[in-house]
Amino acid sequence: MASGTESWILMATGRTPTNIAVIKYWGKRDEALILPVNDSISVTLDPDHLSATTTVAVSPTFDRDRMWLNGKEIPLSGDRFQSCLREIRKLADDVEDEKKGIRIQKDDWQKLHVHIASYNNFPTAAGLASSAAGLACFVFTLAKLMNVKEDCGKLSSIARQGSGSACRSMYGGFVKWTMGKDASGSDSIAVQLASESHWNDLVIIIAVVSSKQKETSSTTGMRDSVETSPLLQHRAQTVVPGRILQMEEAIRNRDFASFARLTCADSNQFHAAAYTFDAGPNSVLIAPNRKSAGLLLQRLLFCFPPPAHNELTSYVIGDKSILHEAGLQSMKDVEALPPPPESKDKYPSQKFPGVVSYFICTRLGSGPRVLTDESLALLSPTTGLPK
Ligand code: DP6
Repeated sequence: MASGTESWILMATGRTPTNIAVIKYWGKRDEALILPVNDSISVTLDPDHLSATTTVAVSPTFDRDRMWLNGKEIPLSGDRFQSCLREIRKLADDVEDEKKGIRIQKDDWQKLHVHIASYNNFPTAAGLASSAAGLACFVFTLAKLMNVKEDCGKLSSIARQGSGSACRSMYGGFVKWTMGKDASGSDSIAVQLASESHWNDLVIIIAVVSSKQKETSSTTGMRDSVETSPLLQHRAQTVVPGRILQMEEAIRNRDFASFARLTCADSNQFHAAAYTFDAGPNSVLIAPNRKSAGLLLQRLLFCFPPPAHNELTSYVIGDKSILHEAGLQSMKDVEALPPPPESKDKYPSQKFPGVVSYFICTRLGSGPRVLTDESLALLSPTTGLPK
């Protein structure tokens, strides 16, 4: 390994969005390679509100690979991290940084160790696909550091081996994970159906009702479903293929009625399939435009007001402009909200304060990107340890 001195540190920082599936991935046909039993489609959420940021550093002085998540060191020994590291190292290329006098040759990457620091700008345990953003960022940022030339499709197949849904975070907008046929998993990759600008008036409101870690992980829940549920096989073989085509058409035509019907139908079936398994309680609502989102927020805040003494600004986070457009500037405005007009005769307009922990208002977002501003790096450029 040629280098000016042996104490250099080279770093890269990336930011990768999270995604929410509208046609769900549930069930694997290969547990080690993480190959799914059906195609799935997701929307990528705005990284300003929900994303992972990761800094990776390499130095000849590092004696082992290490990782910190939200400031706490975590083991990298798990199979999934190891698969991603191994696959990225295989694709690593020569890197030259003349200013720092660093030259790393392709084969050097097998011997060099990395430090990785990752941070989520949303609660990790809130069941909001933190693993998708995190693993996608892990792969994307390592690929940048190691000068991997392969496209996002190839990177998505590596992120998939970290966590299935992570492959869809390699693109912005609307993304399909094609299940593929090959036993090696080479064709089980994510593709972008449309960018975020194709249908940018959609508003997404996430009601976070619990930030507790799920009792049953997705991995275990889907394993149990594959082993015990005939409904899951029917879903994968018969229902999803048609639904995927219809969803692609709905997205292409910006047909909200079909998009909403398919999204709800798939969510209902997913919960029927996972009937006895807790799969995370937070609900994701999609409104066709800002005006409907404002009306929806008024109703949500009427039924699920914040607990006493809670500030509106910490109860509705993310894109707060929708709140303001809906005439909700303060708690006083929330308290003055009239009951939803459509509920008057049908059922009493009950209030459930404190049931929802908080709401996140967001929209469709863009794919991964490199952060060149060094002040955003999570590792120190001189020690390679968390700042
Ligand atoms: C319900 O991708 O977290 O969010 O591949 O075992 O890591 P592993 O599972 P994960 O499962 C996500 C399941 C889901 C549906 C979806 O995102 O499509």
